[in-house]
Amino acid sequence: MDKTKKSMLSLKWEDGNLVILDQTKLPMETEYILLETVEDVWDAIFKLKVRGAPAIGIAAAYGLYISVRASKAQSFEEFYEELRNNEDYLASSRPTAVNLFWALKRMEKRALSSKEKNMGEIKEDLLQEAHNIRQEDEQMCKAIGENLLTLLKDEMTVLTHCNAGGLATAKYGTALAPVFLAKDKGWNIKVFADETRPLLQGARLTAWELMQYGIDVTLICDNMAAHVMSKGWIDAVITGCDRVAANGDAANKIGTYGLAVLAKAHDIPFYIAAPSSTIDIDTSDGEDIVIEERHGDEICCGFGRRTAPKGVKVYNPAFDVTPCHLITAIVTEKGILTPPYSEAIKEILLKQV
Ligand code: MRU
Repeated sequence: MDKTKKSMLSLKWEDGNLVILDQTKLPMETEYILLETVEDVWDAIFKLKVRGAPAIGIAAAYGLYISVRASKAQSFEEFYEELRNNEDYLASSRPTAVNLFWALKRMEKRALSSKEKNMGEIKEDLLQEAHNIRQEDEQMCKAIGENLLTLLKDEMTVLTHCNAGGLATAKYGTALAPVFLAKDKGWNIKVFADETRPLLQGARLTAWELMQYGIDVTLICDNMAAHVMSKGWIDAVITGCDRVAANGDAANKIGTYGLAVLAKAHDIPFYIAAPSSTIDIDTSDGEDIVIEERHGDEICCGFGRRTAPKGVKVYNPAFDVTPCHLITAIVTEKGILTPPYSEAIKEILLKQV
């Protein structure tokens, strides 16, 4: 085994417990914490201890199982009501990443399909479904990486935003998956990582996990992206995504839209990496995607120091929407989608891999 390449799992199921790497502590501390109750899971998602669309979905799936594992319900109807209440509760933790709702619905469907079984078996099935969601995510991420690699070449440099690496998924990541896979096959793909204001997922998480794996990463402030593009240093921009609407508009971490505009201006391909669980056919376009707004203190008092006058008005959207006309391709585990996206999305959702 190559000791220079290290990667840590964002979450694991260990001895009957959900254990997550507390991402708010990175890069200074690597601390795994136990989430014992559904409230613990809600809080971990809300506070971004576990974050990134796929990882949120996986955590919520386990959270839903945890919420009913000690249920004393006497009938399926009683059990189902309990499950639905906890599902709604977990769904209220964050509004933008559709993977959260997707995973919860999948758990609900599994419960319904196990309806005729006894309570112990239904609970077992729910745990199994959460495991399936986690394992499938790992496979999807690997396939996304392989598909993205067909668009890249050895020695290229990519720019990414936020963190769409292994930390945001079960393993490999989405936008960063090709970079890890490239490293494994001896390629040298370099990465420029936007620091990603205000919570610095790029600096704290992306730079950290790429360095752990021995990948050449250069950290820049978000407002430096145009400059490095103008120098001709960027061959492709690749970001993850929290929700792809039916027309191909894509919501991702605030600042992604700006990058897409810059990429267009510099004639650089702009790729969105997304597992099919991130595609929301029920949301017709980006206008309909709910954008999470977070507390202004994340901007004014990030990391313990006040950097803006007390009482200043703050607007802190956590995501923005990149219109589909700025996206060169949406890379999924099932294939590479190119415009027009409405048709491509419908086709890919029907495709079995
Ligand atoms: O607020 P975060 O850190 O959860 O935002 C995460 C992102 O925007 C990621 O790019 C997205 O979830 C894709 S992760 C594979």
